[in-house]
Amino acid sequence: MTTDPQAERPKTPAEHGPMVLLINEVDIDYEVWEDRRRGLRERFTGMQGAGRTVIHAVKGASFAVYEGESVAIMGSNGSGKSTILAAIAGLLPVTGGEIYASYEPRLMGVGAALLPKVSGMRNIRIGCLALGMSVEQIDERLDSIIEFADIGEAINRPLRSYSSGMKARLLFAIATSIRPKILMIDEALSVGDKEFRAKSEGRIQDMLNHAGTLLMVSHNMNELKRLCTRGIWLEEGVILADGPLDEVIATYTEGT
Ligand SMILES: Nc1ncnc2c1ncn2[C@@H]1O[C@H](COP(=O)(O)OP(=O)(O)OP(=O)(O)O)[C@@H](O)[C@H]1O
Ligand SMILES: [Mg+2]
Repeated sequence: MTTDPQAERPKTPAEHGPMVLLINEVDIDYEVWEDRRRGLRERFTGMQGAGRTVIHAVKGASFAVYEGESVAIMGSNGSGKSTILAAIAGLLPVTGGEIYASYEPRLMGVGAALLPKVSGMRNIRIGCLALGMSVEQIDERLDSIIEFADIGEAINRPLRSYSSGMKARLLFAIATSIRPKILMIDEALSVGDKEFRAKSEGRIQDMLNHAGTLLMVSHNMNELKRLCTRGIWLEEGVILADGPLDEVIATYTEGT
């Protein structure tokens, strides 16, 4: 393991499949206004002054991910993990650098795009449409999605009445209903109970066995060790380490 990105890449295309994801010198900034109205006013007049803060959430991050790899992303609260996953998913623009992906990455995050006012059942349909499934494909898969989520009668209740674990079950069932090529999970498994975690880890292993690629953020080192082989340590938006998971976890736990 090393902090020099060129020196010791953990996996090469010969060991894995082809490169599926390239993050090249990526910077991501957030603009925060002390007061929203003033922010709009200053933006309209072109004047930028006090009250505007730019947060450099990710700074010059570079890494490549190969088909079949499972990468753990770790780091303190606020280190930029969710930001980088959101940018890879195309939900956030980058301020600098480029992100290339061979397949559309699917992000399972805590605040994923489901509708709180409609039932779990409707959300399955909406979520599957958003993943590009046809109505016929959804009809075919509906039962197995409901079965995997396994939340009983609650499937007919509005999502806003769900506990966080129930929401995670539904989200995971939808996101993995068609085996994704690139799956990204942002702390979404840890809210599930033991049985659900085992079931979802099984599904992730299955995906990895079929040349899927995983990027996973978690503060639970055991969960990361079960699923990932490579680790990336991010701190204050900078990649401090990238290498075999055990080594990166050792450095991370020493360094924090
Ligand atoms: N919507 C936002 N607007 C402004 N700043 C944000 C926004 N989201 C995150 N940030 C800032 O960007 C930085 C990185 O945040 P991010 O959510 O990516 O951290 P994280 O590594 O996922 O942390 P955690 O472990 O707490 O989930 C932090 O300084 C945070 O305050
Ligand atoms: Mg986060």
